[in-house]
Amino acid sequence: MTHKPKILITRKIPAECLSYLEEHCDCTQWEGEGSLPREQLLEQIKDYDGLLLSGTSVDSELLERAPRLKAVSSISVGYNHFNIEDMKAREVIGTHTPYVLDDTVADLVLALMLASARRVAELDSFVKQGKWKRGAVREEHLFGMDVHHATLGIIGMGRIGEAIAKRAVHGFDMNLLYYNRSRKPEIEERFGAQYCTLEKLLQESDFVVLMTPLTPETVQFIRKEHFEMMKPSAFFINASRGQTVDEQALIDALSNGTIRGAGLDVFEKEPISPDNPLLQLDNAVTVPHIGSATVKTRNDMAMVASRNLVGALTGGQAYVVPELQYLLK
Ligand code: DGY
Repeated sequence: MTHKPKILITRKIPAECLSYLEEHCDCTQWEGEGSLPREQLLEQIKDYDGLLLSGTSVDSELLERAPRLKAVSSISVGYNHFNIEDMKAREVIGTHTPYVLDDTVADLVLALMLASARRVAELDSFVKQGKWKRGAVREEHLFGMDVHHATLGIIGMGRIGEAIAKRAVHGFDMNLLYYNRSRKPEIEERFGAQYCTLEKLLQESDFVVLMTPLTPETVQFIRKEHFEMMKPSAFFINASRGQTVDEQALIDALSNGTIRGAGLDVFEKEPISPDNPLLQLDNAVTVPHIGSATVKTRNDMAMVASRNLVGALTGGQAYVVPELQYLLK
């Protein structure tokens, strides 16, 4: 009889995912709050063939203590927490969850565009604080900016970018500019999008949406000089990773009127520190990295991640991250 692979699940996953995994693996699930603390993960990992996690760094510190480890499955599409070179050196397969969250993240990006331009969070506080009194505040102080028919610039035209483009163009009649490593003629045809330089996109967009994955090349991709190229009336939306932006430059741009506002799902350090000056700014709408966080999508992601882990451990199907696909035999 062959033994089932032993896997460690570092956070609670839906019951149907656990049942599925138990059919194929000998499972240990962390039952505490949040994620298994790193110290305990480092102590326990030596006994496992597979690891299911989200966000925990997979680096040489962990891999050196994991002689049996063959596969790590992340419940996320982003995999910047995988140290690809360390994983290559140890021949550890890494998997992620593309496709399943595209529409959900795109919905949140539209929500951030609408919320920042129409000042939803700020005006919600205004009403709840009892400040809405006839004549007490001149109404134009509450006015926002239109989203419909405005120009949207998407930096990073992957699947999520495409889902944003569909909503923006078909739902809000927006004009679309995009900047991407490669040109995408099908996007231009479907959405009337214009491929352009980063400079042109920044200069002409009313909404700049950053969707580029975090890689060594995209760390602090958007900096002071980029905010300075944007219109003073423009909104900056980030739903990629916080480290793709120079956060201090963003804070300065929002504070001194270089740009009008921002909608942010991601931050340089997460959770963001309560004393981060971003949290004092009325023109920054902030949410706690919840782009993919609807009940259905998070459940679906956990199931894709569970199937990925079984696939990677048994030579079946799995969404292996591109850089490590050669390891799947
Ligand atoms: C992802 O899947 O990478 C999203 O950022 C949610 O974590």
